[in-house]
Amino acid sequence: MIAKIEQLLQEVEAMKAANAEELEVLRIKYLSKKGAINELMADFRNVPAEQKKEVGMKLNELKNKAQEKIAALKEQFESQNTGCDNLDLTRSAYPIKLGTRHPLSIVKNEIIDIFARMGFNIADGPEVEDDWHVFSSMNFAEDHPARDMQDTFFIENNEGNVTHNVILRTHTSSVQSRVMETTQPPIRVICPGRVYRNEAISYRAHAFFHQVEALYVDKNVSFTDLKQVLLLFAQEMFGSDTKIRLRPSYFPFTEPSAEMDISCNICGGKGCPFCKNTGWVEILGCGMVDPNVLELNGIDSKVYSGYALGMGIERIANLKYRVNDLRLFSENDVRFLKEFEAAQ
Ligand code: DAH
Repeated sequence: MIAKIEQLLQEVEAMKAANAEELEVLRIKYLSKKGAINELMADFRNVPAEQKKEVGMKLNELKNKAQEKIAALKEQFESQNTGCDNLDLTRSAYPIKLGTRHPLSIVKNEIIDIFARMGFNIADGPEVEDDWHVFSSMNFAEDHPARDMQDTFFIENNEGNVTHNVILRTHTSSVQSRVMETTQPPIRVICPGRVYRNEAISYRAHAFFHQVEALYVDKNVSFTDLKQVLLLFAQEMFGSDTKIRLRPSYFPFTEPSAEMDISCNICGGKGCPFCKNTGWVEILGCGMVDPNVLELNGIDSKVYSGYALGMGIERIANLKYRVNDLRLFSENDVRFLKEFEAAQ
């Protein structure tokens, strides 16, 4: 009996079927009521008592093997069958739906690209910052209103206390300080990133938005260098007939400081509701790095000078794509995002 079982085990092991019909024949041969295995089961009662245990175990092994093997062969046919009959290997592939790049990323990449062509490297800094890098090292007076709770998000420490030292950066100018404290000139960097301000959210203000900062420090850097870079940037970004104008302004970290307007790219400077009929729209702040800032960050202001500029990415995106509700940028509405399919 054992020899017979061993033989059947080998047969089962080697079982092959080319199609479902052949498999059915095998199933009947081994596993049906009158199949080989059942026949052995019927003989089982004639096995001497002392062999019953060994023979029983072998018989069970055979039955399990046969069932497993048949099931495995069956599965093979079934998986081969799905869709095989009308498989067309010459058919072109189904189009894969790609996502769209976010408009802020598109604009950010464009800004990076323009500055990279002028030799600027990318620098990065943390969003959770300390007072030194955001304010003190950037020449903000102790009582400057920007340090106020109204503008700045403060972070609680582990005891739940607000120390006024750990904050969310309110501008990317903090990266200027991060770069200067570790690098000596020549410095030529741009720093794109997210910034936070404690604003009530509306169509024109948000609690977080994005900026790009640029910093250039070297020997003999002058306001003329800044103007040239600004003009080139504006014309690359908004078209070669774009004009720029600089208005005197104030920032703690630049002296002199200016704000730059470009000729309204919607009406071409003739005057429209977008530019409030002035023909100009403001796009960025800039100026010569205040010598105090250079000194506070370990750079000799008698040897070096520099310029800096900072702009809001949302502002540029708004001008380029007329997105006049800031909230759209962070709602991730696919219908809105899809509109930028062609731009990326
Ligand atoms: N940090 C300023 C802001 O958030 C923008 C800015 C203005 C950056 C002038 C500069 C600059 O680098 O020179 O409003």
